[in-house]
Amino acid sequence: MTAHVTWSDEYLLHYQPIDAQHKQLLDLLDTLYAAEKSEGSSPDASIFLFKLVVFTETHFAYEERLLELVGFPTTKKHALYHRLMKSETREIVQSFRKRRSFDREEVLLFLRDWWTNHILKEDMQYRPFLVQHGLAPEGSD
Ligand SMILES: [Fe+2]
Ligand SMILES: [Fe+2]
Repeated sequence: MTAHVTWSDEYLLHYQPIDAQHKQLLDLLDTLYAAEKSEGSSPDASIFLFKLVVFTETHFAYEERLLELVGFPTTKKHALYHRLMKSETREIVQSFRKRRSFDREEVLLFLRDWWTNHILKEDMQYRPFLVQHGLAPEGSD
């Protein structure tokens, strides 16, 4: 399995609440990877999926509110990406409920790629607005 998820400083927006939420999500994904590596002690998939939904939806709501507050000009587009991911995530949960199992590797690869790309390509775009409003320091990117 090649879906190891490692937190790295490149994901930092240097605004603590957001960084903490992103780290919580990536750490959650990594628990699934770690469990896959150590045979037998697989975490409860329904607990993993429950946390995934809670962390995802809490983070998106928080971030969208923040984007509105700092006047990020493409908040609507950003929120659309969130909405699509929210339904992808709910679909993973629904298909698990139906089949009582899910392809961990496929799910993990999908989640890892989406989250790391989204943080690096989409979330990074609002960093200048955090700096402008004194929420993040200048020049740490
Ligand atoms: Fe985002
Ligand atoms: Fe984010």
